[in-house]
Amino acid sequence: MTIITHATTPFDGQKPGTSGLRKKVRVFAQPGYAENFIQAVFDVVERAPGTTLVIGGDGRFHNRVVIASAIRMAAANGYARVLVGQGGILSTPAASHVIRKYGASGGLILSASHNPAGPDEDFGIKYNIANGGPAPEGVTDAIFARTRTIDRWLEEDAGAIDLDHIGTYRIGAMDVQVIDPVADYADLMESLFDFPAIRAAVDGGLRMIFDAMSAVTGPYGTEILERRLGFPAGTVRNGTPLEDFGGHHPDPNLVHAHELYEAMMAADAPDFGAASDGDGDRNLIIGRGRFITPSDSLAMLAANAHLAPAYAGGLKGIARSMPTSAAADRVAAALGIPSFETPTGWKFFGNLLDAGMVTICGEESAGTGSDHVREKDGLWAVLLWLNILAVRGISVDALAREHWARFGRNYYARHDYEAVDSAAANALIAELTAALPGLAGRSFGPLTVAVADSFTYEDPVDGSVSANQGLRILFEGGSRVVFRLSGTGTEGATLRVYLERYEPADGAIDAETPAMLADLIAAAETLAGISRHTGRTRPDVVT
Ligand code: G1P
Ligand code: ZN
Repeated sequence: MTIITHATTPFDGQKPGTSGLRKKVRVFAQPGYAENFIQAVFDVVERAPGTTLVIGGDGRFHNRVVIASAIRMAAANGYARVLVGQGGILSTPAASHVIRKYGASGGLILSASHNPAGPDEDFGIKYNIANGGPAPEGVTDAIFARTRTIDRWLEEDAGAIDLDHIGTYRIGAMDVQVIDPVADYADLMESLFDFPAIRAAVDGGLRMIFDAMSAVTGPYGTEILERRLGFPAGTVRNGTPLEDFGGHHPDPNLVHAHELYEAMMAADAPDFGAASDGDGDRNLIIGRGRFITPSDSLAMLAANAHLAPAYAGGLKGIARSMPTSAAADRVAAALGIPSFETPTGWKFFGNLLDAGMVTICGEESAGTGSDHVREKDGLWAVLLWLNILAVRGISVDALAREHWARFGRNYYARHDYEAVDSAAANALIAELTAALPGLAGRSFGPLTVAVADSFTYEDPVDGSVSANQGLRILFEGGSRVVFRLSGTGTEGATLRVYLERYEPADGAIDAETPAMLADLIAAAETLAGISRHTGRTRPDVVT
């Protein structure tokens, strides 16, 4: 056992964002950059001596380098065991499950989610705590504080690290256990859902496309959908994980998964289409001829979840992030269960899930999940949809129409203005923040402001308060516009404008979204002066 102490000095800007530390690969590749951050994590996170650490990533460029380093560092920092996915692979939800299943004190997840990968693209490190979920703000703040004073990092003098062979070996006083990245997760899915019902539907002709976007979910989708559920070979497309995701942007939305969208809108479309992102926590759901927004998907899944064995006893509550549409709130009200509105980011759901206050959570950014892990989970959402469709024997379109006819429809879109000059974006937010107190009662076209505020969340479990979580302009009748700056970008600022219009069940529930949101789009421009501040006249991405 030889522990090497490397002297170091702090790097600027190692503050974890919405989902861990995200930077360009060339930033992470600076000598000591990843090591400083990982050492800061090891220095501050609570753990008993001799605990287990889980390590895995989405397989993107630079994954193996950082994993090898993290393993040598874990050995030098007193962990008794590291569980690492074969090849350094673990989808984010699989990592969350492995942390929980094996009683680890935490895990390092290496991913920049849906951001592109490669030498000139993005990389990220996130620390998850013993419940399997992203570290809460108290912990990420402590990690950041430590990165500012760090003066050394420790590593076991261990040489090359084998990630490719399943089995256990020792490094210093620590066991390294290389595990099958798929098996535990696939077993978990099989325990939650009615696989026999789905298999019967497949035998009866149910067909789907799952687009893994050349990212981490390929092997998971192939094992679960093709091997365990019997969908024909070829159901999983782009199923081989590539270090650069094939040069694509593995973000399952209508822009980046347009091939899937086109296939699902074609005359010969299969019944169901789905995709997941770089690290497997997001989902895209499209039925034949019918795209389901993530906010609607959350509501529709919640309304039908009792059809899956895991949720047959009913839901305890539903949580959504603030910018997510209020569709799920209406389901919660109908079910007589509580609903919660949290800031953006999965970490805010952890306490509610741990306290047993909610069962299902979701975000408008294509994230849905439940209390089975502490991350959003792309394949979980796909399987819950399949379970519901198999049991009910109806199409996605029919299910959506039935839902809107009962609850009304929350038309929804998000407009992203990317790589905006940071000073301009901050000025826009500052100006609008200053204007908030005077907005109530004012009209913008046909819309009258009911409430305008900057969203502050008080966690009902631990009482912690998170301020400045987005600017909300709520109009009379349930429509609204929300403005916030992304916390995951790696270049300049990304302005997100969230638009929502509610139509009651007896209103226009079968209209086209852009037309229904036109008044809100105009109001957003007037309210915030988007073009004046940013020079942009239209968004880069609409989802
Ligand atoms: C984005 C999404 C947010 C999600 C996060 C991590 O964060 O908006 O819902 O939790 O990615 O996947 P943002 O860039 O908006 O801070
Ligand atoms: Zn992701």
